[in-house]
Amino acid sequence: MMRIQNLKKSYGQSESRVEVLKGVNLEVKRGETLALIGKSGSGKSTLLSLLAGLDQPDSGEIILNDVNLSNMSEKDLTAFRAQNMGIVFQQFHLVSTLTAMENVLLPLELLKRKDAFDKASSLLESVGLSHRAHHLPSELSGGESQRVALARALAISPTILFADEPSGNLDEETGAKVMDLLFQMVAKTSTTMVLVTHDPDLARKCSRTVHLEHGSIL
Ligand SMILES: Nc1ncnc2c1ncn2[C@@H]1O[C@H](COP(=O)(O)OP(=O)(O)OP(=O)(O)O)[C@@H](O)[C@H]1O
Ligand SMILES: [Mg+2]
Repeated sequence: MMRIQNLKKSYGQSESRVEVLKGVNLEVKRGETLALIGKSGSGKSTLLSLLAGLDQPDSGEIILNDVNLSNMSEKDLTAFRAQNMGIVFQQFHLVSTLTAMENVLLPLELLKRKDAFDKASSLLESVGLSHRAHHLPSELSGGESQRVALARALAISPTILFADEPSGNLDEETGAKVMDLLFQMVAKTSTTMVLVTHDPDLARKCSRTVHLEHGSIL
């Protein structure tokens, strides 16, 4: 479903130039949950942001559902992402001026989904936050915010979900609960997922683990 070929990415110029990804090859199959692990600074977040189309690789190909993202215009890529990708970050990245409900509604309304309200309500319910629907992110706890982010990421029933250490900003107990919820929802909807994690226990819950090391996947 997703094929990554010889993906390269560097940051900086001349002496301060860092080659982060030196030719990453990877295939993700439909319905697979893939754990991406590697040392701090190994380029996991960089890789995820390229896969999610948030940043451009220097070279290489990303092909999702037979569509080559490298050949797309900025405008087409934005539309393609909105239709196919869900993303959860370590920092929740909710829109601070919108309520929990409005945050979940946003991706559905962008796609002009007729059932947006029902879908958003039912997702908020499945993450246990119906009673916080009209609260702003600043009025939510970390765990609640991440549950809203999860509902938002899954709202469009994405072809693929990218998650970058989604429990990294939460205390251990809350983080574990959010991750249980994530795995439950992904299993229920058979969503394909790439999960960046430091946690071997979480990696074990995924159907496959790959290691990013020295700029490539072994
Ligand atoms: N915008 C940027 N400009 C310059 N260097 C960057 C930039 N983003 C990342 N880097 C560098 O690229 C390398 C990989 O960073 P990245 O955030 O992808 O690592 P990571 O594997 O996600 O690490 P962590 O586990 O700590 O989150 C690091 O050395 C980082 O300093
Ligand atoms: Mg990272």
